[in-house]
Amino acid sequence: MTELQVRAATPADLDAVLAFWKIAAEGTSISDDSDGVARLLARDPESLLLAEEEGELVGTVIAGFDGWRCHLYRLAVHPDRRRRGTGGALLAAAEARFTALGGRRGDAMVLDRNELAHHAWRAAGYAPEPQWSRWVKHLDD
Ligand SMILES: CC(C)(COP(=O)(O)OP(=O)(O)OC[C@H]1O[C@@H](n2cnc3c(N)ncnc32)[C@H](O)[C@@H]1OP(=O)(O)O)[C@@H](O)C(=O)NCCC(=O)NCCS
Repeated sequence: MTELQVRAATPADLDAVLAFWKIAAEGTSISDDSDGVARLLARDPESLLLAEEEGELVGTVIAGFDGWRCHLYRLAVHPDRRRRGTGGALLAAAEARFTALGGRRGDAMVLDRNELAHHAWRAAGYAPEPQWSRWVKHLDD
């Protein structure tokens, strides 16, 4: 098996990451465009983690720390590369980042119907907190 490398993305990776999410990620995010990802990297440069095998992008996770909480987004592994530990390795790298920054708890938003994701999050030690709901307001309406 080829060795998996996890590294922080740079602005040069932006197009490849956006293309990758189209095939590997679940649904779309409001920030899934060049401006959105560029803004993330400008604000928190080490937050977008890429998993690569022989230089090929096989997985991503955003490990965003805002100084208060640790938020995980865009956990995605290429459909042909799943069940080989990549998702778990990305979450381990994200958690190592959070811990080094003083973070105390990782949060992820996970769709109720995304059972595939539930397996992976549970395997990594995450559990839902059903007493919370997500409250949103779109700021550009
Ligand atoms: C969720 C996802 C990132 C998992 O990535 P992955 O590389 O396959 O995960 P791993 O190989 O590290 O799996 C870790 C553990 O999760 C559990 N798991 C992962 N996929 C599973 C599945 N299809 N069925 C049962 N358990 C599963 C297993 O316990 C697995 O360990 P094991 O293979 O030793 O049994 C991947 O399926 C994916 O990209 N899904 C689409 C995008 C998505 O839904 N992302 C989550 C958004 S919240």
